[in-house]
Amino acid sequence: MQELSVRHLLGIKDITAEDIQLIFETADNFKDVLNRPIKKVPSLRDITIANVFFENSTRTRLSFELAEKRLSADVINFSSSSSSVKKGETLLDTVNNILAMKVDMIVMRHSSPGAPHFLSRHIDANIVNAGDGTHEHPTQALLDSFSIREKLGDVAGKKVVIIGDILHSRVALSNIFALQKLGAEVMVCGPVTLLPKYIRELGVKVEFDVRKALAWCDVANVLRIQLERQQMKYFPSLREYTLYYGIDKKMLESLDKEIVLMHPGPINRGVELSSDAADSHHSIILNQVENGVAIRMAVLYLLASKK
Ligand code: CP
Repeated sequence: MQELSVRHLLGIKDITAEDIQLIFETADNFKDVLNRPIKKVPSLRDITIANVFFENSTRTRLSFELAEKRLSADVINFSSSSSSVKKGETLLDTVNNILAMKVDMIVMRHSSPGAPHFLSRHIDANIVNAGDGTHEHPTQALLDSFSIREKLGDVAGKKVVIIGDILHSRVALSNIFALQKLGAEVMVCGPVTLLPKYIRELGVKVEFDVRKALAWCDVANVLRIQLERQQMKYFPSLREYTLYYGIDKKMLESLDKEIVLMHPGPINRGVELSSDAADSHHSIILNQVENGVAIRMAVLYLLASKK
């Protein structure tokens, strides 16, 4: 049996193109299972997984939980807002106490970049990074590339632009790594204040004019403005951001080709995307969410065999 080169999924930076292809092929099989009347397989029976979330989530948390249940794993959910973290318990103490209950795998979202990497140096269980601050969100990038492959047949050779708040986005960084490993051309587009200074060192194109970016690409992955992570004002107002970087259906229809529109969610409707664009035939936003379950089943299944 083929296996992953890693025993934790901490970031796309740490895995190979072969790992990604293996995850996709495994996810293809699980997607078939998810389309059957009986959507459950016994693959992770007797494996216990803790979903440990120190930050809010809708899609990622529910998608992991569903993936675990579809694989017949036992699942426990931890949310920091209703936990003893509020009484001062450390991250490591919290996780070690969860592991003492004979838990095999940890899926963790944390606001601090590197938190899952820190844990991986101190615990034995497999760890999946479900988003660490502004750093990486590997399963999001995997489901994004998987969705491009599903829609366009392949990721290699495709032109993908990531538009918006690149500076605060873990989705952007993981997507850049995944798309490049799979042979896509990557562009980022946004106001100069929302692009990291090092961005060109990652080998991506940079464009400040969203209309030119849309004319260049096959796929536009639009990101949310992360006001909750912004310590200062990066643009004069949301209205001005929308004026220069907001995408609506008219802009998509004015292109002389079809492009694919993506968004990792949650969407700020009327800010980065108008409702008529988000709900148009260009959009594969809900396909991304659907594919998230199969991708997370594949990641958990493949990691469970790496002790
Ligand atoms: N895409 C994503 O990470 O969404 P959630 O924050 O709802 O999990």
